[in-house]
Amino acid sequence: MKKMDSFWMPFTSNRAFKEKPRLVEKAEGMYYYKPDGSKVLDMVAGLWCCNAGHNHPKIVEAIQGQAARMDYAPHFNFGHAAAFEAADMLVDITPDHMNHVFFTGSGSESVDTALKIALAYQRERGKGTKNRFIGRERGYHGVGFGGISVGGIPLNRMQFSSAMLNGVDHLPHTLDIERNGYSRGLTEHGIEWADELERILMLHHPDNVAAVIVEPIAGSAGVIIPPHGYLKRLREICDKHDVLLIFDEVITGFGRLGSNFAAQEFDVMPDLMTTAKGLTSGAVPMGAVFVADKIYDQFMAKPGSAIELFHGYTYSAHPLAVAACKATQKVYKDEGIFERVNELKPIFEDGLHSLKGEPHVIDIRNYGLMGAVEMAPDEGAPGAKGMRVLQAAFDADLMIRLTGDTIAFSPPLIMEEEHVATAIDKVSQVLRSV
Ligand SMILES: Cc1ncc(COP(=O)(O)O)c(C=O)c1O
Repeated sequence: MKKMDSFWMPFTSNRAFKEKPRLVEKAEGMYYYKPDGSKVLDMVAGLWCCNAGHNHPKIVEAIQGQAARMDYAPHFNFGHAAAFEAADMLVDITPDHMNHVFFTGSGSESVDTALKIALAYQRERGKGTKNRFIGRERGYHGVGFGGISVGGIPLNRMQFSSAMLNGVDHLPHTLDIERNGYSRGLTEHGIEWADELERILMLHHPDNVAAVIVEPIAGSAGVIIPPHGYLKRLREICDKHDVLLIFDEVITGFGRLGSNFAAQEFDVMPDLMTTAKGLTSGAVPMGAVFVADKIYDQFMAKPGSAIELFHGYTYSAHPLAVAACKATQKVYKDEGIFERVNELKPIFEDGLHSLKGEPHVIDIRNYGLMGAVEMAPDEGAPGAKGMRVLQAAFDADLMIRLTGDTIAFSPPLIMEEEHVATAIDKVSQVLRSV
């Protein structure tokens, strides 16, 4: 291979990777294949994306067909029927009050879009002073300036601190290993963290706050599960103070928790939902923001026929993405993929929790087909053990995700029982070896 210096890899130690690359070149079902042909069990769905498994033949066929039919179609003032069909399919599985979709190219774009819609909505209804956002510590909302501002991962913000959005505040995160260690499903303690929202709103005054944004389950910071009743409490406080609630469902959407979206799983209805990843099962980049009727209707009620929202992307509803999206949604439905999660989740949960007592392990937590095994960090070198585990797992033909010293699991939803057993066996060997 030519020297690897030209590609500046994202969120990666380029120097370490290029010393010892971890390459894959083919994928099918639950597996990646290394260049030497060995099969790597994918327990992270690529990057929380490939919910239908890799290279599903129906999705591949749809993309190939579209590529041959029409490469690109603009959606500024022109349109492609398939994009409208995709939106119709999607709103069939969203909560009842959410019947509108704004297409984007990624999760980060979805987050920035949702924040912009929230601001514009407040202004449209004559509440232009409502222009602050509240995010949460340890939240991950992508890498746009909006997303890192409402996000709460210190290293993602640190290099860019001069350019954060003004007026953003953060709820406390909900990780409490001492009280909630080794939880299965929603955690027991900590609903009072939701009440912090009331305090923060009082500090800034609700008249100045547009929206609160949280991941129903924080993914990238290490699968942080909310306490029982926490999300409902956030909703109640937002309602009380006339503040929008945005769920960032980029990971939790499209079956990961067993329901279509976390909103339905937890029976808490947000005003906006940001998605990407599982939308196309990762096959073509695409994101979508789902918008409550009351928000969309506010924009459409304006007299005249001027543009309602000065926002959009060249690749909003790109034909290849739309083809992948439609095929993916059909696969999910026809093959009952979300229902499979409900059968698999107890097996996955038992498998993960069987790692209790293995070396380094200090916590295990899970919900649906999301799970984390947290390890004690090496003294004075947080993340170092995590990288050793990532490498050892890859050497053992297992793909997992590491955030710091936390192993995250989010397998394709087509997983079988045997994959759980194989993965857990490999992880336990890795934990004993590092
Ligand atoms: C909750 C959440 N929001 C936003 C994003 C950003 O998505 P993307 O990387 O597609 O921009 C991610 C990515 O992991 C995510 O997990």
